[in-house]
Amino acid sequence: MSTIHCTINGASREVDYEPGEMLSDVLRYRLGLTGTKVSCEESECGACTVLLNGRPVLSCNLPAEKADGRDILTIEGLQVGDLLHPLQQAFIQHGAVQCGFCSPGQILTAFALLQDDPSPSEARIREALKDTLCRCGAYPRIISAVQAAAQSMNGQPTMPAPAPETDSRAKYVGQVVERPDARAKVTGAAKFADDLSFPGMLYARVLRAGVPHAVISLIDTEDALALEGVQAVLTAADIPGQINHGLIYQDWPTLVGVGEKVRYEGDAIALVAAESPLAAAQAIGRIKVEFDPLQPVTDPVLAHKADAPQVQVGGNLLKHFKISKGDIELGFESAEVVLDEVYHTPTMDHLFMEPECSLARPTKDGRIEVYVGSQIPYSDRDQISAVLGLEPEQVHVIGTTIGGGFGGKEDIAGQIHAALLAQATQRPVKLLYDRHESLLAHPKRHATQIRVRLGAKRNGQLVAAQTELYGDTGAYASLGDKVMGRATTHSAGPYVIPNVKSDCYAMYTNNPPAGAFRGFGALQSAFAIESAMDELAHKLGLDPIELRRINALREGTATNTGQVLRESVGLSECIAKVEQRLHEVTGGDPFTPKEVPGQPHLRRAWGFATVFKNTGLGEGADDKAEAEVELFRDGTIEARTSSAEIGQGLVTVLQILAAEELAAPIETVRVLLSDTDKTPDGGPT
Ligand code: FES
Repeated sequence: MSTIHCTINGASREVDYEPGEMLSDVLRYRLGLTGTKVSCEESECGACTVLLNGRPVLSCNLPAEKADGRDILTIEGLQVGDLLHPLQQAFIQHGAVQCGFCSPGQILTAFALLQDDPSPSEARIREALKDTLCRCGAYPRIISAVQAAAQSMNGQPTMPAPAPETDSRAKYVGQVVERPDARAKVTGAAKFADDLSFPGMLYARVLRAGVPHAVISLIDTEDALALEGVQAVLTAADIPGQINHGLIYQDWPTLVGVGEKVRYEGDAIALVAAESPLAAAQAIGRIKVEFDPLQPVTDPVLAHKADAPQVQVGGNLLKHFKISKGDIELGFESAEVVLDEVYHTPTMDHLFMEPECSLARPTKDGRIEVYVGSQIPYSDRDQISAVLGLEPEQVHVIGTTIGGGFGGKEDIAGQIHAALLAQATQRPVKLLYDRHESLLAHPKRHATQIRVRLGAKRNGQLVAAQTELYGDTGAYASLGDKVMGRATTHSAGPYVIPNVKSDCYAMYTNNPPAGAFRGFGALQSAFAIESAMDELAHKLGLDPIELRRINALREGTATNTGQVLRESVGLSECIAKVEQRLHEVTGGDPFTPKEVPGQPHLRRAWGFATVFKNTGLGEGADDKAEAEVELFRDGTIEARTSSAEIGQGLVTVLQILAAEELAAPIETVRVLLSDTDKTPDGGPT
């Protein structure tokens, strides 16, 4: 153990550290300054930014000894008493705080900029913040917040926060209301899962397969168990309850055992709990595993062929979705122009800023508590209890602040593994993924191949659409059923087409599983059908906006699944408004590429697409959200649900709704989220 002497947030400190330890770990785990966040650990994202002698540094990659003799400022040191710094205040007022995981890094980076340049231009602000990433996409508001803070610090009148359209009948709905969770997020007080710790806590690691398709012939944990500090090494043979988990299909093994099949590189084989993260990592390296390799299949189209390697016992087809409307043969016979194209969309990771973290601990009454930033706490509870061999009520899931999700925190990540280790050791256990493990293990956006065949009259009227989709749902189903169902129903676009045929094949492969991701399947289809509409417009010699206007769904028309739209179909109005604005912005002729002034190697043009999106999971999926409201004797009100706040502003919305409906002052309403003992089941996001 070594020691550094430094000033942290104005106080002189002597801090012990292990050689090789990074400043972020010293701040977070030795000093409890958890406002400093760690997201990528690879100097890419800026979440870990602190100021060293007034300059921003990435603390995740700064050896602690380099802070010796320096002056360190973390987010906890920015406010004076209860008084927020103008930057913190402006981030709240301008809605620049969403999930909040990047906010401390953003604010400290902006603070250093304003020290250097009290009146920075917008370009300078953009440049300063370009490496401090926000995955929620709050950039315009972050920039206006920095501008407003600069004005305030210079004694100038500050630019107002953006005002929404308001409804004069409402007191709170439509008004700008300060996010109840924003203050904690701009001061570093908000607690994400890895910000928590418990006395006697162990640290967990997971041994991943590292091969895409194989049968395990041997697992030897003896050397790992013998390592000092190791308290438990678990394999599939140690699971007391059911082996598999899953959101809809229970096809995902919690651990893959000897004689069982590995289906993707992220499959978990063994778990370790140890007294330190280092001991856990060393123990993982001592576990011996032998495999009999199998031929993998990594493409959903190849996976559908009869001779493809089989991923699941029941074959590679998770589900075949079919839509049929009118007569597709007659439709194409009546067409004067036919377009036939194939489009591909890649897999994609959510890259939420906060990597997955779960803490589990046994309680005195024999239950297991799990602290996790989850999008579906009740589903977590049910899946954890089934694997642990417990009743659902014996597991208590407590939601922590979530640093972004975008659908990627709906599936189980480390919740069950941490709970298994807590059950086995009877001690608290923390399982934190690094970015590599996060990328490897959790479900992605479905990669797709989508063939689109369109038949139209010369005047642009669509008469037939045939789509064929292949979706790569990876090794396990996750939400592949529902996602590819959405892709199918949206694959012919928001158009009036009398004859439609769609076939979608959701295929198992040996890639990482694919599941929920913003847009939930509709995006892949939108890319394909809108690309095809542009191609068709070109073929017909029509303006691409005109082609969409001619075919747009209107009141009284039916969607491609036969749903008659009886009211409130705003597509034509939307097309007209966007067209008008597009022509204003571009001076007309938006689709012809033009040289970018000063950058002769670049061309710029505009695109136009129409997109529609359902709500809910549909197709018989249990899709519900319960909430309850309680009025207390002191006049305060509590709204409770276990729907997840992942940055979108649910706490604010619930507070506004309760205050509006009960005609109560908004400050009397508090919101409690995501606690399976205290809040009703909010369902999926
Ligand atoms: Fe340090 Fe990303 S740059 S966590």
